[in-house]
Amino acid sequence: MDEGQKPLRHVAIIMDGNGRWATARGLPRVMGHHAGAQAVRRVVEASCELNLRALTLYAFSWENRDRPADEIQELMHLLEEFIRRETPTMLANGVRLRAIGRLDELPATVVESLQRVIARTAHGERLTLTLALSYGGRQEIVDAARRLAQQVQRGTVRPEQIDEALFAQQLYAPDLPDPDLLIRTSGEQRLSNFLLWQSSYTELYVTPKLWPDFTKADLIEAMAEYDRRERRFGRIAAAHAD
Ligand code: IPE
Ligand code: IPE
Ligand code: MG
Repeated sequence: MDEGQKPLRHVAIIMDGNGRWATARGLPRVMGHHAGAQAVRRVVEASCELNLRALTLYAFSWENRDRPADEIQELMHLLEEFIRRETPTMLANGVRLRAIGRLDELPATVVESLQRVIARTAHGERLTLTLALSYGGRQEIVDAARRLAQQVQRGTVRPEQIDEALFAQQLYAPDLPDPDLLIRTSGEQRLSNFLLWQSSYTELYVTPKLWPDFTKADLIEAMAEYDRRERRFGRIAAAHAD
């Protein structure tokens, strides 16, 4: 990929369409989540092969907590299974696992296995894999505001010191660069509360493919489309600037 003026360091994905994939096959929705977990494995491996530095996957939103209990239970089970099964591969491939979101809302056993693997993979230097869990962009911004308010109250920060940089430091993963490319599968054209702060200038790519059908070739296609985009960040096109 282009490492010059438009590097692609961080890809974020809204993995959508598991339910529709299953329904189209006359299967229960959870089967779509099982197939979706396979797609996660594929795409993490592909990201390593394609030399991406960061991959952030929207796995469970703040609002997904309002889904039926048995569906949530299955998603949590799949998450634990993914973490357990993939740890050796992550270690072998230099993958560093992280998680963003209101993690204290997850079942304690899930949090424990997550924390364990996060600690074990902390030295991975090839790919930072961030799972967004019980994650909401608005909730993240509220949590950041709360932390800043506490610092002001303690007297460690003055209100006039608050700027974009200081605010961004309070986010869940402040050291992660903003996503360059945000992919959403299943054709839906919305953010659904994902990375609201971080995606202000992210390139958006929507594919009609349902998440369980998403392959390495689809990731390559999205990256090629990114390569064709011109990122202007509010400025004028490079061709017109002298
Ligand atoms: C995405 O697939 C997975 C999660 C939200 C956890 P969906 O479950 O939203 O599938 P659709 O959108 O109903 O097809
Ligand atoms: C977004 O998908 C959340 C995840 C992919 C984890 P949803 O299926 O929950 O989003 P909506 O309801 O279609 O906006
Ligand atoms: Mg959906």
